[in-house]
Amino acid sequence: MQPLPFTPDLSVQPDVEGFFDEATNTISYIVKDPNSDACAIIDSVMDIDYAAGRITYDHADALIARVKERGLRLEWLIETHVHADHLSAAPYIQQHLGGKIGIGSKIKVVQDTFGKIFNEGTEFQRDGSQFDRLFDDGDSYRIGSLTAHALDTPGHTPACMTHVVGDAAFVGDTLFMPDGGTARADFPGGDAGVLYDSIQRVLALPDETRLFMCHDYAPNGRDIQWETTVGEEKAHNVHVGQGKSREEFVRLRQERDKTLAMPKLIIPSLQVNMRAGEVPTDNSGRPMLKVPINGL
Ligand SMILES: [Fe+2]
Repeated sequence: MQPLPFTPDLSVQPDVEGFFDEATNTISYIVKDPNSDACAIIDSVMDIDYAAGRITYDHADALIARVKERGLRLEWLIETHVHADHLSAAPYIQQHLGGKIGIGSKIKVVQDTFGKIFNEGTEFQRDGSQFDRLFDDGDSYRIGSLTAHALDTPGHTPACMTHVVGDAAFVGDTLFMPDGGTARADFPGGDAGVLYDSIQRVLALPDETRLFMCHDYAPNGRDIQWETTVGEEKAHNVHVGQGKSREEFVRLRQERDKTLAMPKLIIPSLQVNMRAGEVPTDNSGRPMLKVPINGL
């Protein structure tokens, strides 16, 4: 396992506010610097009625309103990965509040894979240039006085990253709450063994580190939750807790993935999110999505 490429600093404690999207079970975050009005938004959501081909912005508008209400300055729009179950609203929020859109540099791998699956033409760039910043493992960036670190945590997808800001880590789909286990690793480019190794990296953070999930599905009828700690995950995570071995995890993950249907929004999500949240257009410039038949 690669060691952490930075030294965690638990004395720095960003202010974190979560926003749950009921339609997709996604949690978006506003992460604020306690020493200034600088903030970042992690994993925003654009609403889609896929059956009707209609896009709306209620969830994003709520985030924008909250940033304005608190008098914050948006510096970053971070995507923990190319989501397959919801559409990013990053460009819409950027239009209203500014900020730079960032994602892991392995987005190029994801763009190459899905560029082929969606039979995109040469006008679809596979170099990540739709984003303002591509992070490599160990890269850092500032949110006001805060230093944020990007940590490669592939496995669910190749471009997955965990973003660590002081005592808070935004794990994307690397981990779920302890009773939810982990995210699937069977999408093109996913790998259960690689996911296990990435999770060990997250669990190498200090036990008190606050972990913020990208999704929660409220298993066993409990309420929605999105915050836990490294210590809690190590002790209780139903897929990787109690020092579960890599072999055991891979077997469990692969068995489970065979039983899962495709996410309802995977087809629109991939096409939009691999373009940093922009809806593709047809050759007359109208927003338009494709459905590859037996392609996924
Ligand atoms: Fe995901």
